[in-house]
Amino acid sequence: MIRHLLSAADLDVDRATLVLDTAAELANLASQEVKKLPTLRGRTVVNLFYEDSTRTRISFEAAAKRLSADVINFSARGSSVSKGESLKDTALTLQAMGADAVVIRHPASGAPHRLAEWIDGRVVNAGDGTHEHPTQALLDAYTMRERLGRIAGLRVAIVGDVLHSRVARSNVSLLATLGARVTLVAPPTLLPLGIERALGARLRTSFDLDAVLPESDVVMLLRVQRERMNEAFFPSAREYARCYGLDTARMRRLPQHAIVMHPGPMNRGMEIAPDVADSARSTVVDQVTNGVSVRMAVLYLLLGGSAK
Ligand code: NCD
Repeated sequence: MIRHLLSAADLDVDRATLVLDTAAELANLASQEVKKLPTLRGRTVVNLFYEDSTRTRISFEAAAKRLSADVINFSARGSSVSKGESLKDTALTLQAMGADAVVIRHPASGAPHRLAEWIDGRVVNAGDGTHEHPTQALLDAYTMRERLGRIAGLRVAIVGDVLHSRVARSNVSLLATLGARVTLVAPPTLLPLGIERALGARLRTSFDLDAVLPESDVVMLLRVQRERMNEAFFPSAREYARCYGLDTARMRRLPQHAIVMHPGPMNRGMEIAPDVADSARSTVVDQVTNGVSVRMAVLYLLLGGSAK
């Protein structure tokens, strides 16, 4: 296995498949009365969160605890970071405490890569700026495979604020590795310039959601990330929802078997209508459940030595 998980591109087909297969085995644990394995007993996992998070932080914490690791939760707020301590000094502190793995979320793209240079433990990127979020892509792939039986050949539409989305970036990379066909759908202002050229023939882009929906097995909606926007990327929330929001009427354009995904947190009524979020096609809750198994698999494979 690899040493760190910093980017979805760290995973080739075999490694990505190993993570998904291991997660599937570990998922059985969730249905048992005692949800714990002794695998990481005596190991320390630090959750180092410099950005707000609900799902991802809780998910990594549950994953580490189910594997019996000691978990230290560090959030920048209320720590010496608010006194101006640098990432490097924080890293040296973690190193001195013997952290075996550090799960880091940081507003600066590339922060996990720097951290990996400074500490001996394993580093897992839990979201860095607008760059990558590899465990989200893994849990999304797991969910697609679970619901639709495969990933290779699936037609996946990733819709919305692609420009600011680390979820989109990691998904584009992992889905290409696993053989899915991705179409990015967004208003022109929210698509990175030259993205098609950068990513080659496997990737398509479109400004027209209604045209893409009938040809999609999966539609993945992205949160409009207003906290990362300092200018007007679209006229109004209403206008955005009208053109790119998935409501019940629009959902009918999807093939019968197609699923609707969202990484959370959702802006209900904007990129996704409440009825759609709560519909049988929606995998939002499954994604959260699967996130724990996938993160268990990642920690297990990075820290637990040899795989099966
Ligand atoms: C995403 C994130 O933080 O990058 N959420 C998540 O991890 N579940 C997506 C988002 O914030 O929109």
